[in-house]
Amino acid sequence: MAYETLLVETDGPVGVITLNRPDALNALNDKLVTELGQQLDAWERDPAIGCVILTGAGRAFAAGADIKEMRVQSYMDAYGNDFITRNWERAASFRKPLIAAVNGFALGGGCELAMMCDFILASEAAKFGQPEINLGVMPGAGGTQRLTRFVGKSKAMEMCLTGRMMDAAEAERSGLVSRVLPADKLIDEAKAVAQKIASQSRPIAMMTKESVNASYETMLRQGVMFERRLFHSMFATDDQKEGMAAFVEKRPAKFSNK
Ligand code: HXC
Repeated sequence: MAYETLLVETDGPVGVITLNRPDALNALNDKLVTELGQQLDAWERDPAIGCVILTGAGRAFAAGADIKEMRVQSYMDAYGNDFITRNWERAASFRKPLIAAVNGFALGGGCELAMMCDFILASEAAKFGQPEINLGVMPGAGGTQRLTRFVGKSKAMEMCLTGRMMDAAEAERSGLVSRVLPADKLIDEAKAVAQKIASQSRPIAMMTKESVNASYETMLRQGVMFERRLFHSMFATDDQKEGMAAFVEKRPAKFSNK
């Protein structure tokens, strides 16, 4: 499908979505967020796709919600149209592994979108922040909740209250990103990681993601029980039989995604 605000490509089982409004630092307008949801819907249904990368064109991942679009909204526009809840959170509910490759600014809604992904790979040029307070609002797409879970209360509070940006090194130290890479290696490395994930059993990777995500939503005991039940269920898959047989027979596993 051709989009106005996204570039989309596949490399075997890996899908890459590039947010593509570089003149506006990929500011997230309604069109972009809707198109992103459409593409994620399509790849969630597509059995050929095993892992997706989300990145940005130019010098930003995304510099936030589109302020020029947002500024004219009234309370009733925001509440009545269910702003954000209506179409922003598709990345968080996407069932296959989703990697954010953050190449530059990830601010406001851009930082929130990156945090909805399963993990963040950052280039040395990445900058993260929740600067909404400078605009007379606060984070509205999960920033106060997800950033706090990633980096702890003290740093999240400071960032949300001052709007200060953190660079890639601080983001890695704080646990917001899994790894920092040289800018010119970011996409290649993200693709290599995505290929590795996509080569695993699809249902097992999806259940693993579901189980890690459950740790955000549950108390430890319930989370461990959820993990245990999923783990037990994996013994009903062909891929468990194949993965363990391949180890014993000293050969690479050939998963059938069943
Ligand atoms: C609309 C934006 C934008 C945004 C940048 N642009 N961010 N347009 N919405 N969020 C546009 C600029 O207006 C400008 O367009 C062009 O992109 C380049 O930006 P500059 O400011 O000229 O670049 P620079 O001087 O390098 O500064 C980069 C920057 C700055 C520090 C990232 O652009 C900035 O502070 N942007 C806003 C960041 C922000 O406050 N994000 C939070 C948004 S609120 P023109 O036409 O002038 O060339 C939010 C709420 C989330 O996200 C809640 C959930 C929806």
